[in-house]
Amino acid sequence: MTDIFEILHTTRAMRRLKPDPVPDALIARILRAGASAANGGNTQRWRFLVVKDPAIKQAVQAWYKRAYDEVIGPRYAGSAPPPGTTAERYARQHAAVEYLTERFHEAPVWIVACLAEEKPTRWSGASIYPAVQNMLLAARALGLGATLTTRHLLYEREAEAALGLPPGVHSYAILPIGYPMGRFGPVGRGPLRDITFLDRWGEQWDIPEEG
Ligand SMILES: Cc1cc2nc3c(=O)[nH]c(=O)nc-3n(C[C@H](O)[C@H](O)[C@H](O)COP(=O)(O)O)c2cc1C
Repeated sequence: MTDIFEILHTTRAMRRLKPDPVPDALIARILRAGASAANGGNTQRWRFLVVKDPAIKQAVQAWYKRAYDEVIGPRYAGSAPPPGTTAERYARQHAAVEYLTERFHEAPVWIVACLAEEKPTRWSGASIYPAVQNMLLAARALGLGATLTTRHLLYEREAEAALGLPPGVHSYAILPIGYPMGRFGPVGRGPLRDITFLDRWGEQWDIPEEG
């Protein structure tokens, strides 16, 4: 898959993954895509921890699941479907979130996106998430499923200890990666005209939806 717009519109959270190993050469291509991203001042403080060790993944999954049971699960249960999706689709998303929660550690490989920066600011996020998005797009282009996850940050200290991050390094996302069980489909988002203004805040721009 090489058409950039096709990739952009079908890079969805792929939470149901096969346990089959992912060749290192593909992980390397994903990492190279990540390390090509924009970053503040080109300081390249990103660090990528590739995790395959089942014991490490299992230790982090325990915190990931606890955060689901305590915070995320109840939040999902009490929330309405977001724009651009239906109740049925939202229920499917919730089921997939639960599925990944139970099997987070079973994804054959994780990429943990980190920054070697002592005091994270909003600029820190702006210097790591472009790399994360590049990696998600690269995984999609290679036919691999992945999901941007940050839930472990609800137990940041414990999860980062389980990951063995040294002082001064913080994690921003864990990407569980593997061959997807299902098919890539289009993302479901609300209409562009509901979130775009022209010149003055609140002034609708009658932007074409197609194309
Ligand atoms: C900041 C951020 C954090 C996220 N954290 C998680 C997470 O911890 N677990 C998870 O399953 N999905 C997570 N997601 C994925 C979103 O739930 C997903 O992008 C959204 O539901 C849209 O789904 P779609 O891309 O499949 O259409 C996260 C996405 C973002 C941008």
